[in-house]
Amino acid sequence: MIQTNVNLQPHNTFGLESIATHFASFKTIEELKELLIHNQTAQQELLVLGGGSNILLTKNFDGLVLKNDLKGIATVSEQENHCLVKAFAGENWHDFVLYAIENNLGGIENLSLIPGSVGAAPMQNIGAYGTEIKDVFHELEALNIETLEVKKFEADACNFGYRESVFKRGLKGKYIIVSMTLRLTKNHTLNTSYGAIEKQLAEMKITAPTIKNVSDAVIAIRQSKLPDPKQIGNSGSFFKNPVIGKEQFETLKINFPNIAHYPIDENNIKLAAGWLIDNAGWKGKTIDNYGVHKNQALVLVNYGGAQGQDIYNLSQEILESIKSIYGVDLEREVNII
Ligand code: EPU
Repeated sequence: MIQTNVNLQPHNTFGLESIATHFASFKTIEELKELLIHNQTAQQELLVLGGGSNILLTKNFDGLVLKNDLKGIATVSEQENHCLVKAFAGENWHDFVLYAIENNLGGIENLSLIPGSVGAAPMQNIGAYGTEIKDVFHELEALNIETLEVKKFEADACNFGYRESVFKRGLKGKYIIVSMTLRLTKNHTLNTSYGAIEKQLAEMKITAPTIKNVSDAVIAIRQSKLPDPKQIGNSGSFFKNPVIGKEQFETLKINFPNIAHYPIDENNIKLAAGWLIDNAGWKGKTIDNYGVHKNQALVLVNYGGAQGQDIYNLSQEILESIKSIYGVDLEREVNII
């Protein structure tokens, strides 16, 4: 059933008000097809929402919002060393992580507590603490909005990059992800090399960690640094960490000897956008009811009742300030609507 004039506030983790002229949710692929067939005549602009954790709504939406409510998680095949686990796109991402941990399946424990839905996970190749979706990805199924056919995509076809996939680029607006299957391990190789995890495990006095311990450590780190969207509206990292060339880095280092950075290859260095923004004096800056989070400068927050356009303008000011101080171009990670 299509509803009219629906406030999207409960459907985005920034908690921003935005009225959609039309709104419908779908629980089955058949329902989704019916909605798309209807829209082939109505010809409205489409916006597909999962957990709404990676969007900034800057205005009312004149079109049809489709909320993905496809549910279900199951182990679809078991081999000697791994299992294939399939989840439908409308499942909550962290519930998928919990399913894996309860079934002693490894590979996504480092991705605990990332807000959002299963469908959004491959869309932007979510990552945290040294693991990305692409590391455990088996395949996904997506429905072609025009032909209504469901197509399988293996990893190569998804073109995964840092918070990137073909669904954000070449195939943007062409497919709706309906399910994703991951290849999870039965005998685990833990990835605790990310400094904060080791420190947290040591604090928890754990010497031989299980996947559950690693998940608990990641949850503790995230809760200490990142605001819970249920309490303070936000969309996780608002900007991506930028990559610059070696020469530019050497020059920057003269003026900013403590600059946080990670070598990528011989010629390129990734900078921590959080450090750049923090060091530029933005961390904790509050304007009325929105601002930059006090513990993590990469996260913009809505303390309640802010306008998406104001948050967008703040992000623009930050972009310009980072460019003028360091000569570095930041890119937004969040989708602007
Ligand atoms: N830093 C500061 N000030 C800040 C924030 C960070 O100086 O306000 C410094 C830190 O001290 C550290 C460096 O910047 O030296 C990197 O910070 P951190 O380890 O917290 O990670 P990040 O680069 O800020 C990335 C991801 C996060 C992910 C974490 C952990 C991006 C854009 N962000 O953050 O992902 O959880 O690493 O792996 O890649 C997200 O995408 O929404 C997200 C939260």
